[in-house]
Amino acid sequence: MGTVDGLRKLRWAESHMPVIAEIRKRFVKEQPFRGIRIGMALHVEAKTGVLAVLLKQGGATVSLSSCNPLSSDDEVIAALRETYAIDVHGRRGESREEYYNNLNSVLDTRPQLIIDDGGDLTRMLHKERSEEAANVIGGNEETTTGVNRLRAMEKSGILRFPMFDVNDAVMKHFFDNRYGTGQSALEGLMVSTNLLFAGKSAVVAGYGFCGKGIASRLRGMGALVTVTEVDPRKAVEAAMDGFYVSRIRDALKNADFVVTATGMKDVITYSDLLTAKPGLVLANAGHFDNEIQVAELESRSISREDVRRNVRRYTLENGNFVDLISDGRLVNLASGQGHPVEIMDMSFAIQALVAEYIIKNREKLDRKLYPVPEEIDLHVAGIKLSSLGIEIDRLTEKQYAYMNSWEEGT
Ligand code: NAD
Ligand code: ADE
Repeated sequence: MGTVDGLRKLRWAESHMPVIAEIRKRFVKEQPFRGIRIGMALHVEAKTGVLAVLLKQGGATVSLSSCNPLSSDDEVIAALRETYAIDVHGRRGESREEYYNNLNSVLDTRPQLIIDDGGDLTRMLHKERSEEAANVIGGNEETTTGVNRLRAMEKSGILRFPMFDVNDAVMKHFFDNRYGTGQSALEGLMVSTNLLFAGKSAVVAGYGFCGKGIASRLRGMGALVTVTEVDPRKAVEAAMDGFYVSRIRDALKNADFVVTATGMKDVITYSDLLTAKPGLVLANAGHFDNEIQVAELESRSISREDVRRNVRRYTLENGNFVDLISDGRLVNLASGQGHPVEIMDMSFAIQALVAEYIIKNREKLDRKLYPVPEEIDLHVAGIKLSSLGIEIDRLTEKQYAYMNSWEEGT
């Protein structure tokens, strides 16, 4: 079912992923993952499919489930299973129970390397199946929220195998979190609402890399954008970037749209919504669906109605209504197609190269959270630049020595 369309999506994505294409040439020859079982929990859509196929072409046995119940593309899943014989567990709209069953199915394959997005697979390996953690050589984490969880695990001394922080590679968060989320969150909002941004009042909660991207793209579409923050440095940055900055409750009084991108829970409470502008459109771009109090909206609203695909209208106790997109799950994947292809080309190139690095350096690694080695970040940037036909200057030996010297400046 849907295999042909899924295959088209995979081929389209693959044809716009020049960095992965370059890596593929070497992986096919060198087979860095020969005999290695890789278990992944990622958003199962076309670009992720290209990564899964790449790892398989590099010799791995790959097992894949989704890291979010609403982000899977069933056509891509069909194509991965039927054309590439990749072991995929999941479907769009799976229940909470199915979601955890699917993560368990991936772990049933006894992966030696894991690739996670958000930390649920890693957590399961530490909490519920900790006896299997010893088989894991190492793993990668894709997103800010997952890295925050890994930092907490490392700090409390419970991390059982080396993990790599892919999110904080420059070639990941500079582009993926900022330009990727900036474009795809707006796409999700536009597809689900068909409403105009120009002249509207929009609020972005969080001015990290995702929030910056979303705020700048909303402004580019003509919205009047207010940013909310809890970090005073980021709040100053947003103000100097030319955004209004205020408290969330104040900002929502005049807002037509709000997008959360904080990685924090309860950023928009039910009680904030009681004083919000009637008709406010609510969306979340953060990893988990806890940034907006969805459970309270469900339990305390007078009524709820599905007014469009992926849009649920809640009438609140005071008679006002708000429209929630995709149950408060990441708007760019649940209502859109995820990040643009060229963005995931770079993020997943880092994932693939870090996976190879783990296998090659397995004897040297400890139970720690590691940054992505700089040479991998630079290598991906280099391939990307040459795919764009751009050449840049190099430091001369004298300039390099100058940069590393504390002698007089002249
Ligand atoms: P970040 O850490 O760079 O930024 C988060 C910002 O939110 C910080 O500046 C923090 O001070 C602020 N914040 C925290 N609590 C807040 C609150 N109550 N009100 C206002 N601001 C608050 O993180 P990021 O890389 O921008 O990622 C944000 C979230 O988006 C994470 O959950 C991450 O995993 C997720 N993410 C989603 C996508 C996507 O495709 N939708 C892509 C990348 C990251
Ligand atoms: N597509 C696949 N993984 C993704 C991610 N982490 N963010 C956005 N789009 C994606």
